[in-house]
Amino acid sequence: MAVTGAILVLFLIGHMLGNLKVFAGADSFNHYAEWLRTVGSPALPNRTALTIAEIVLGISVLLHMWAAVSLARRAAKARPVKYAAKRKSQASGYATHTMRYGGVIIALFVIWHLLDMTFGAVNPKGGDATPYDRMIAGFQPDRWWVALFYLVAMAMVGLHLRHGMWSAFQTLGLTRRPNVRRGLQTGAAVVSAALVLGFVAAPFCILIGVVK
Ligand code: HEM
Repeated sequence: MAVTGAILVLFLIGHMLGNLKVFAGADSFNHYAEWLRTVGSPALPNRTALTIAEIVLGISVLLHMWAAVSLARRAAKARPVKYAAKRKSQASGYATHTMRYGGVIIALFVIWHLLDMTFGAVNPKGGDATPYDRMIAGFQPDRWWVALFYLVAMAMVGLHLRHGMWSAFQTLGLTRRPNVRRGLQTGAAVVSAALVLGFVAAPFCILIGVVK
């Protein structure tokens, strides 16, 4: 769970930073998208590194979901009788629900997102437009509901990440000392919030017409 989670967090940080290039203009953003496809060229054929990254990412997502299901099954088996009293902790009801349903929403978002930004199937500009044009067209005011879906999905990503990082720290036994625990709790919240704000910035600024 933690290893695949860490791979996905690294991808998200890179992806968020890359998205911010939209503020530097069409050339900068498209140039970055082109670079993603030509990393290692001419030694490697185009898309080699990108395809490897896509395979690692795809396998990580599948293993992450598989680990989540098998851990939930193991937990249910270890404790077939429900707790009589609910304990208010990070590991109880609220977080479990956020992780489970949040994870499903994020998975649905990724499917829509790939159809929208990568393949252009549900994007007004279609698959032949430049990545910048697809991005701008994707969040125009008449498609406010798409922007809203992205915003909700990013909130889910933030909550998922905050709890996921926290769980990983706990698994590693880093949360026993109170001052370290507080530091890690704050760290997980700050990294998640920075990621969400960084992701939300582009759709929001396109929606209100600041980025055209
Ligand atoms: C507001 C948030 C986001 C925006 C505006 C955004 C934008 C984009 C754009 C423009 C592309 C296409 C890049 C290109 O064609 O070169 C892309 C690809 C992608 N995005 Fe996002 N993204 C966002 C959030 C996310 C999140 C949260 C995830 C994962 C949970 C994600 C996963 C992906 C994946 C897997 C790809 C395909 C990468 C590939 O081509 O192999 N994105 N995104």
